[in-house]
Amino acid sequence: MPGPFLNLRERDDMIDATSGRLALLGLLAWTGTAVAQQPPPTPEQRAQTAVETRQAIFKLMNHNMAPIGGMARGTTPFDAAIAERNATRIAQLADMIAETFVPDTRAFKVETRALPKIWDNADDFKAKAQDLIRHATALAAAARSGDQAATIAALRPLGAACSTCHDSNRAE
Ligand code: HEC
Repeated sequence: MPGPFLNLRERDDMIDATSGRLALLGLLAWTGTAVAQQPPPTPEQRAQTAVETRQAIFKLMNHNMAPIGGMARGTTPFDAAIAERNATRIAQLADMIAETFVPDTRAFKVETRALPKIWDNADDFKAKAQDLIRHATALAAAARSGDQAATIAALRPLGAACSTCHDSNRAE
């Protein structure tokens, strides 16, 4: 029997839908304001972000390198599974080196140890990043094969790939 009043459930649904729409409008207005108030990053801010991104990659590589370096020195017990896992991660992180150095930050006042020659001789820098990928992949493969002697032999060359690039491209 039709009545002048909506039944309670219908009325609640309408309230829900309305408040949902109002909430969405409010959210859109809020983000709209936030975006409008945020000026686009200046070239200096973009350079700073680029530096922070590449340093973050190296921090993660360092974290993954620590047990590998320890195994190479004999201060950490040999563990093929950790060597494989961490070398795989290092290879993936190293794959990001070249792209995170695309922004040329030479002209900006940023806190960085990256030497200007990285951009003067980008091919050499990229080749050193490729060397790191190659050595990390070789260590992961040796560890996966179960050949302990080959795995141990592949630990040091990986560390050397880090230092070789630092020697010529990173300030003290
Ligand atoms: C292709 C060159 C290259 C390779 C290979 C490389 N690095 Fe670096 N690394 C750099 C440069 C350049 C910087 C300086 C970055 C900056 O300050 O903007 C750096 C910085 C660092 C930093 C300091 C990060 C910070 O907090 O500012 C650490 C730690 C580091 N590298 C560890 C490693 C490890 C570990 C490896 C090997 C697994 C490695 N790097 C391989 C070029 C390289």
